Amino acid sequence: MSILWLIATLLLLHSCAPGVCMHHGIVGGKDSIPHSRPYMVYIRDSVTRKPCGGFLVRENFVMTAAHCNYNHLMVYLGVSNTHHLPVGVAVHPIPHPKFSMSPPGHDIMLLKLETPAALNKTVKTIALPKTENEEISKNCMVMGWGQQDYDKMSPSWVLKEVNVTLLDSKNCGTIDTICTEGYYGPSVGDSGGPLVCGDVVQGIVSYYIHESKNIYRSRYTHIAHYLPWIHQVMKNPNQLQHETWKGKLDKLI
Ligand SMILES: *[C@@H]1O[C@H](CO)[C@@H](O)[C@H](O)[C@H]1NC(C)=O
Ligand SMILES: *[C@@H]1O[C@H](CO)[C@@H](O)[C@H](O)[C@H]1NC(C)=O
Repeated sequence: MSILWLIATLLLLHSCAPGVCMHHGIVGGKDSIPHSRPYMVYIRDSVTRKPCGGFLVRENFVMTAAHCNYNHLMVYLGVSNTHHLPVGVAVHPIPHPKFSMSPPGHDIMLLKLETPAALNKTVKTIALPKTENEEISKNCMVMGWGQQDYDKMSPSWVLKEVNVTLLDSKNCGTIDTICTEGYYGPSVGDSGGPLVCGDVVQGIVSYYIHESKNIYRSRYTHIAHYLPWIHQVMKNPNQLQHETWKGKLDKLI
């Protein structure tokens, strides 16, 4: 059981299962104006260097995808170009206890910073949705340092962003995800990054499906659906961390 789970994990992270790839880069985007997205966080495994995106939601919490829960996570705040990283901040990962890799589900994680961020012009938080059912603007933007081509290793040193349009929920399928579709969008390396609609972050980059020639459907964790869990974790991270570990052990046994 645990071995199968591990194999599924490796498959999804390193490449693509048939038709499904975990995200890694913005395809078809443009360079963001340096520091114009001050909530954006660069995340990396300090040993394997595997990257993800994330975003600051409180002085002491970064939100990202649960499939970015690598072993040696470090977060970097206020980054524009990943060639010039500031000192990294160590974190305690709190993945959603029901997260699963295959099929991908509940792909959301909070990272509690060991040292809270000092907010300034280049390091700021972004607003979360206020209620589960609030109207979402369909004009959204997604950003990251991931691949600039779906099929080639082509990460970007500078942050890139692209406009995307939300699909109607009836065309997306589940209540815990939201979708965009088209040729442009997030790719490998953009996982965990924010889908920003208006001034609010509504989604977390999770994975994409190659639907047909030039059509890619991207799926994002629907943040509003997880508000009770988010508020509970941020109120009492120590208790939740314990429960998360218990959940993990149950799964491995
Ligand atoms: C803002 O904070 C970041 C991270 O703590 C730091 O690297 C940066 O130098 C600060 N910027 C300013 C303008 O103080
Ligand atoms: C996204 O759309 C806005 C207007 O809605 C525009 O100002 C902006 O330049 C667009 N960004 C990109 C990356 O195309």
